[in-house]
Amino acid sequence: MRQELEDLRAAALDQIQQSADAAQLERARVHFLGRKARLTAILRQLVTLSPQERPVIGLLANQVKQAIEASITAQRASLESIPSDDVLATDQIDITLPGRRPTLGRLHPLTQIMREICQVFVEMGFAVIEGPDVEWDYYNFEALNIPEDHPARDMWDTFWIDPASISVDKPMLLRTHTSPMQIRIMEQTKPPIRVVVPGTCYRYEAVDASHESQFHQIEGLAVDEGVTFADLKGTLYTFVQRLFGKDRKIRFRCDYFPFVEPGVDMSIDCFRCKGAGCRLCKESGWLEILGAGMVHPNVLTRVGYDPARYSGFAFGLGPARVAMLKYGIDDIRFFHGNDLRFLQQFP
Ligand code: PHE
Repeated sequence: MRQELEDLRAAALDQIQQSADAAQLERARVHFLGRKARLTAILRQLVTLSPQERPVIGLLANQVKQAIEASITAQRASLESIPSDDVLATDQIDITLPGRRPTLGRLHPLTQIMREICQVFVEMGFAVIEGPDVEWDYYNFEALNIPEDHPARDMWDTFWIDPASISVDKPMLLRTHTSPMQIRIMEQTKPPIRVVVPGTCYRYEAVDASHESQFHQIEGLAVDEGVTFADLKGTLYTFVQRLFGKDRKIRFRCDYFPFVEPGVDMSIDCFRCKGAGCRLCKESGWLEILGAGMVHPNVLTRVGYDPARYSGFAFGLGPARVAMLKYGIDDIRFFHGNDLRFLQQFP
């Protein structure tokens, strides 16, 4: 019987280790440990053995049983770690596939260009400050020499805020330009002043390739004794050269803004048609990127500055136009279209 147990152990361990899948392993388990198994019979017969034989055979039989059980457990674990054939067939892993990069956030191209523009002015000694998008009529128009019945108010089609909805007694609006900050700054400080103000502006107008109803401006203001139009031109010319290179063409023309005198607008030659005239530049060959001028004496007087002593220049530029020129973008609507193919070109 001792020999039989040894043979059983050897046969069982062999068959268990040969099992190639869970079903084979289960058959082996039933065969060697099941109710009809030889080992089970031997264990049951122990009582019939002589008192001398019983402990010896009993010990051995139990050792064989434990060895078989341990072997089954080990084989099951190792079978589970190997995927089955059909899993291998359907679940193929291509280990040569390059990993997926996590997508990193990045700055919107308009944010990038606005920071770049502000930086150019910072290096010329300007400070950067911001102001409110929701403005009083007073700052947006009145204090900028645009009285209520002034025809120039038509230049800024305005989103008015329903006064009843916010219970104020003075008219409020979404600022149509960043110029109201000229007044806020001058009210609060004394010259010399040199600031740029980046911000969002709103106009109630039709959207096309070069206009959006929500857009950005960067306002510039410099006030001191002896500031001249030459300072205005020199500053803006330096700005253009820094952003576009030395041989970009610019053009100043007379323009009218009630809060400056004289007023100008400044254009850069159109990148799309190289000056020949196209849809983007409205056949003119030029793209207007800013309005500017010498701060009007009425405006200086209004904030308590003596126009005989102080003078200043101001400008308001459109960063989207600047970005379009710099990167050759021919439709302003790309900026807020949220198309990743567009946005991903600005790392
Ligand atoms: N605020 C003007 C506009 O929105 C631009 C401007 C700013 C013109 C400063 C002159 C001086 O069109």
